[in-house]
Order: sequence, then C-alpha cells, then structure tokens
Amino acid sequence: MKNINPTSTAAWKALEDHYQTIKNFNLREAFQNNPERAKELTIQEGDFYVDLSKNLILKETKQKLVSLANECHLTEAIASYFNGEQINATENRAVLHTALRTTESNAEVEEKVTAALASKNKMFAFVDAVNNGTITTATGKKFDTVVNIGIGGSDLGPEMIYEAMQAYKNELTLHFVSNIEGDHIEETLKKIQPETTLFVIVSKSFGTQETLTNSTTIRNWFTDKVGDSAVAKHFIAVSSNVQRAIDFGIDKENIFPMFDWVGGRFSLWSTVGMSVALGIGSKNFQDLLNGAHDMDTHFRDTSFEKNIPVVLALLTIWYNNFFQAQSEAVIPYTQYLHRLPAYLQQAIMESNGKSVDRNGNRVNYETGNIVWGEPGTNAQHAFFQLIHQGTKLIPAQFIAFAKTKYNHPDHQNKLMANFFAQTEALMNGKTSQEAAKDLASSGKSKTEIDQLVPFKVFEGNKPTTTILIDELTPRSLGKLVAMYEHKIFVEGVLWNIYSYDQWGVELGKVLADAILTDIKSSKSDNHDASTKALLQKFFEINN
Ligand code: F6P
Repeated sequence: MKNINPTSTAAWKALEDHYQTIKNFNLREAFQNNPERAKELTIQEGDFYVDLSKNLILKETKQKLVSLANECHLTEAIASYFNGEQINATENRAVLHTALRTTESNAEVEEKVTAALASKNKMFAFVDAVNNGTITTATGKKFDTVVNIGIGGSDLGPEMIYEAMQAYKNELTLHFVSNIEGDHIEETLKKIQPETTLFVIVSKSFGTQETLTNSTTIRNWFTDKVGDSAVAKHFIAVSSNVQRAIDFGIDKENIFPMFDWVGGRFSLWSTVGMSVALGIGSKNFQDLLNGAHDMDTHFRDTSFEKNIPVVLALLTIWYNNFFQAQSEAVIPYTQYLHRLPAYLQQAIMESNGKSVDRNGNRVNYETGNIVWGEPGTNAQHAFFQLIHQGTKLIPAQFIAFAKTKYNHPDHQNKLMANFFAQTEALMNGKTSQEAAKDLASSGKSKTEIDQLVPFKVFEGNKPTTTILIDELTPRSLGKLVAMYEHKIFVEGVLWNIYSYDQWGVELGKVLADAILTDIKSSKSDNHDASTKALLQKFFEINN
C-alpha cells in the first residue's frame, strides 16, 4: 500500500476550499433547489437502499471525496487486501477475513481459502452432530446449552450475531461469559445445568487473562459437579494457538483452529463463530457468510461513487476531518441489533484509534472517530435531545428493516414512522416562525410565545444516512456487518494508518499484571499517590 499523508493531496486542499463554501449549506434548501437530490444521492444494491441525501454534501462533494480516495490509491489498496498482502505490516500478517466467506477461486490466496474451508467443514460437521444429537453429553444426552467463553473479538461479534438472529435460533440456549468478574460467572452458572452444557473456549491467542481465568473457574465448577472424566466431552476450544489449548487440557480433537491472518475483531466468520453456528445451525451460518461475500464483491467490484462502504467511509472522513465531528451514532431500528453498536465500537475504535501513520510519524490530522448508539425508538427517549438541540454535530446512520419477523403491522408502522420522522426532523428542524405558529395554535399568549420560542427552535441541518434493508435475515446481516468492515478498511487507508494491529491495549494489560502481584501481597508502595491511595482503600474495605 502507498503511504500517503492525505492532507498533502490536491484533493484534500480542494475539499478544504469546498468546505468553506459548504459549511453554511442548508439541507432544506438543497432539497428545494434540486428535486433530483434524493435520487442522485441514493445507492440501491440488492436489498440495501442507502440514502445519503440527508448529508451535508452536494454531488460535487462526493466527487471530491472520491478524488481523495483515488489520490490515496484506494483501488490498489483494495487489491492488496483481497490478495492477501501483508497489509497488517506491524504484525507481518495478511488481513483475509474475506477468504473465510469466498466462493471464488483466487490464485493469490488459494492455500488460505483451502485451509479456511477445511476448518469450516470441521466446524459444520461438529455443529450438525451436536444439533442432530450424534454428539452427546458425557451421559449420552442431547446438549441444550452452550456457554461461549471469550472476550473482545472472541465475544462481541458472536454475541451480536446471536442476538440479531433470535428468530433463527434452534433449541440450544447460548450464554456469553466475557468479563473477568467472578459475579458475572456466578450469575451465568446459576442458569445452566453442567450435565447438558457445552463450553466453547474462544481465544485466538489462548493467552488472554480474562478467558483463561474464566475457563479455569468454570472447569473447576464443572468437575466438582460432574467429574473430571466428562471434561473431554463438554469443553471445546477455538484458537490459532493449538498447543496452548492442548496445554490447558483441551482434547486435541476438540480444538478448532483459526488463522493468524484473521484479526480477532474480524473473526466471527471463522471458527470463532462456533457458538453462533451451534445456536442457529450451519445452514443459517453459511447464509451469513454468503451475505458477507455479497458485500465483499460489491465492495471489490463497484466504482467508488456507487460503492456503499467507500461512500460511507468518505462521509466519515468528511465530517471527522472537515467539520471536526468527534463521533458518529449508529441507530438500528430493531431490538435484534441491540449489540451492534458495542460490536462496532471494537471493530471501529480498536482498528482506527491510531495516532501514528504508516510511515511511523505522528499524524497531523484527526483519525478514528468515536462510535456509539442504541436501538431506536429507545434512543429517541434517551439521547436524541442532544442530537437535535445540543451543540455538537453528530452524524448518524439510521438502519431499519422493512419487513418484520412476526406479524404486528401496527407496531411496525409505528416503528417505521418514527424511523422516517427522526431523520426528517433532524434535517428540517423547526424555525422560530414555525415554533411561534405552533405555540399560537396551542393557545399560548404573546408573552408566553416570546418566552418559549428560543427553546422550541430546532436548528435542523443534522446529517443522517438512512440504510433501509428489505428484511433481517442471516444473509442481510452478513452483508451489513461486512459493509462496516470495509468502511473501516477504507478509512484506515485514507488516514494512512495501520487498522489491523492493536498495540494500544497492551500497556494496561502489563500494568494490571504488575498490580495483581501487589494486590496479592497487599503492597501499594510502587505506585503514584492516587493509585497508592486507591489500593489502600481497596485493602481496607476488604479486611
Ligand atoms: O484486547 C485486545 C484483544 O487482543 C482483541 O483484539 C481481541 O479480540 C481480544 O483481545 C481477545 O483476544 P483473544 O481472542 O486472543 O483471547
């Protein structure tokens, strides 16, 4: 990949000039001035209808952003990504989650695709055997519960997918244990029967403190209840470090390999998805992969102007680097996607939260944006006040599915009415004249109107992108998640950062190990005054 400082490009300078002419741009007027605006700024790709027209852009803004992508050699970068070049250069690794879902042959990555297929086949054979009762518990019963033990990418993706796919789940019940908090383990163990539970330990490195501690505690609890001999039938592992999993005591046959060329936060498509595959069945899991592959081919083969992940990434750069927006919200109008924002927080912020560029220099521009959100309409009754009337610019992606899983037209009509109303309200706002008129028609006096109008004004002009999808299915979900993966990639390329390492999480881990040693020996001397006092308070409360 070329390592280009985006701010040194001609396109960046053109965008800076363009920003000066557009910063007072008014969305309401833009629609009045151009009846074709909605059509011109919408992308229909299969079951995805992506409306960009409520953004602070003109057609020419999009063209200028595309020029930036061209000057940063995005086309070549995409080829390097799909062809398995070591674009994760600080870890000397390829980034090939796309190979986990491909149905095409690609000479450059053939070996990896073959390995991925073998590993998927092994997983599906296991999943099918558990689901049809061929593989049973130690006492010959059918498993009814699965506990996924993992954290970060070994938890967030699988849990998000499982929650989203509740309408597709089979009779297995899944639980996810991630945090190192003993109370969380206890609360989970209360809900399960050891005799009929399968434990899936998921850790790419098999060296993560949380996962190893939780697995040890759970295994001890299990052997106390059921006996040591049952462990081999009830504990399986997913890891790229097979030896460590063996050393931990997992039967070699029960270890499902994953690969170092798949990053943890992009690994739900691999054997890391084992729990999900168990919970929704291998056919639905394959549909999920097919959906991701649909988005992969769209992303790889479509011109940038009509390329959904590219355009969404360019919008993020537009707001982040020119409007200086600090964050963006993701609001799915379905409870099924309630874990999507949490999943995206790792995927986006662990990837693009970098301040050193690919040349090893500190960047002189903003990178990784903050992402947050909650499902609508709940979000409307929580933080929408700030988006509507606060002082910060928060571009938002609104996601909804036109068809429901169950037949409640009244609910769906009301949900969708809110979905459409919010983006319209954020765009149009309410002028002081409109606010005064409303107050007058509700019978307020002139004095009351004068007092209240300032509080009733909505500035509007708040940018949103609407992603309307036909229906939430495994396939459309795979496509949606892959859309965000590629958006992250494009942002990283243009910001000239390495998106696929995560050195920033290491320091805290090292310090936690050192403090653990101190806690075990009730020592606090080696620390700053604040940490020392906190440790002493902790010792005091516990003694
Ligand atoms: O904390 C960082 C991290 O390395 C994530 O990137 C990763 O998803 C998570 O820890 C868990 O890692 P592992 O799967 O190796 O246990």
